[in-house]
Amino acid sequence: MNTADPKTGRNATQPPFPRRLRQSQSQASDWPESDAVAQQHSLSLIEAIREQIAAAGGALSFHDYMQAALYTPGLGYYAAGSSKFGAAGDFVTAPEISPLFAWCLADAVLPLLKTLPQQSVLEAGAGSGILAARLLQRWQEQECLPQHYYILELSADLRERQRRQFEIHCPSLLPNVQWLDAWPEDFEGIVLANELLDAMPVHRVHKREGRWYEQTVGFEQDAFITQEQPLSDTLLQQQLAQIEAEQPLPDDYLTEINLNAGQWIRTLGENIHQSVVLLLDYGYPRSEYYHPQRQRGTLMCHYRHRAHDDPFVYPGLQDITAHVDFTDIADNALAAGFGVAGYTTQAHFLLDNGLLQKLEQQSLDEAEYQRQVSQVRQLTLPQEMGEIFKVMLLNKGCQVLPTGFSGRDLRHQL
Ligand SMILES: C[S@@+](CC[C@H](N)C(=O)[O-])C[C@H]1O[C@@H](n2cnc3c(N)ncnc32)[C@H](O)[C@@H]1O
Repeated sequence: MNTADPKTGRNATQPPFPRRLRQSQSQASDWPESDAVAQQHSLSLIEAIREQIAAAGGALSFHDYMQAALYTPGLGYYAAGSSKFGAAGDFVTAPEISPLFAWCLADAVLPLLKTLPQQSVLEAGAGSGILAARLLQRWQEQECLPQHYYILELSADLRERQRRQFEIHCPSLLPNVQWLDAWPEDFEGIVLANELLDAMPVHRVHKREGRWYEQTVGFEQDAFITQEQPLSDTLLQQQLAQIEAEQPLPDDYLTEINLNAGQWIRTLGENIHQSVVLLLDYGYPRSEYYHPQRQRGTLMCHYRHRAHDDPFVYPGLQDITAHVDFTDIADNALAAGFGVAGYTTQAHFLLDNGLLQKLEQQSLDEAEYQRQVSQVRQLTLPQEMGEIFKVMLLNKGCQVLPTGFSGRDLRHQL
């Protein structure tokens, strides 16, 4: 079973410090220290979650803990000011690695931009805004700017950062971008989401002695603790029954279920017409995700480019993420009236959209060329992001489709 981390390419390492924040400050010998302001920030979030746990009678579902750790307004990891993306942050995403990624994506949807009556693009979960800026710059060069570029972003802090990205790097394109609080009514066009689904809170479930339990989070003696209660949520029960009907799972099996992702696809289906959706993320088809040997699931945390599996370390300062079950996404997409028009690896999608030609067409000096070659490797090599990242294309009523799916069609795996 591959345990390499998709965001670092390295195997996960155990954090050297235990869960308690105060202890961790002295014991984090080879881990990057957080400064006093960041630690105070984390303590404020711990206090807010502790109050939530008390108000809920002593335990929150793991899903609610993860929701709070990532999205509590002003304090959660995505809702507050740390760097997050890129070398100075905690992890790196494909649009941050190389502009070639955005150029391939821009060219993939170009045929649609030329034919759709309403040229609208909606990006969900835009991070630093770098993908939006590079896409619009590319389309501007090709004289094919969409009428609207909408961004749907949960985090007020990231919205502000996205706006600054435009102000600093391409201010003339700022009027083309519109930030939304909710889905626009009757949207038609192209929906893009890179690493959105992996950032949604998941439920954690544990099978022992033949029964499934849901993990909850309590707070005792100054630290978060994991607890378990018999599974009562009907949706989780149904999902596990479906998974085990295809492949029974062994005892002492810990995994995650992402109900939010399926709900997101269904809401999307209700709000859009004549549209395509491109979902780029790390994940597997169900048979591989819920493989009997994947006994500890895929939950992963990132703090300053260190990957580990303890969600209680530095709440608010570290990312918590889980892989995507693409079979579940496909099932929900079909139920929401989409067709699954493509499913391939990131490597094949980028290579099909002329990644190598785009690299060669630039006039680069030797040093810059070598730098970009190594970025291309990071995006495409199987042991880096090439295989574990997938691209899924959903279609509702469009005749012309994005390119990049003919090289390797993996839909039979779903
Ligand atoms: C892992 S980051 C990826 C950012 C960016 N797409 C990239 O590839 O660098 C996840 C992003 O999705 C946003 N997000 C999470 N859930 C969301 C939701 N339901 N709707 C909109 N944005 C969401 C987060 O705030 C964050 O911007």
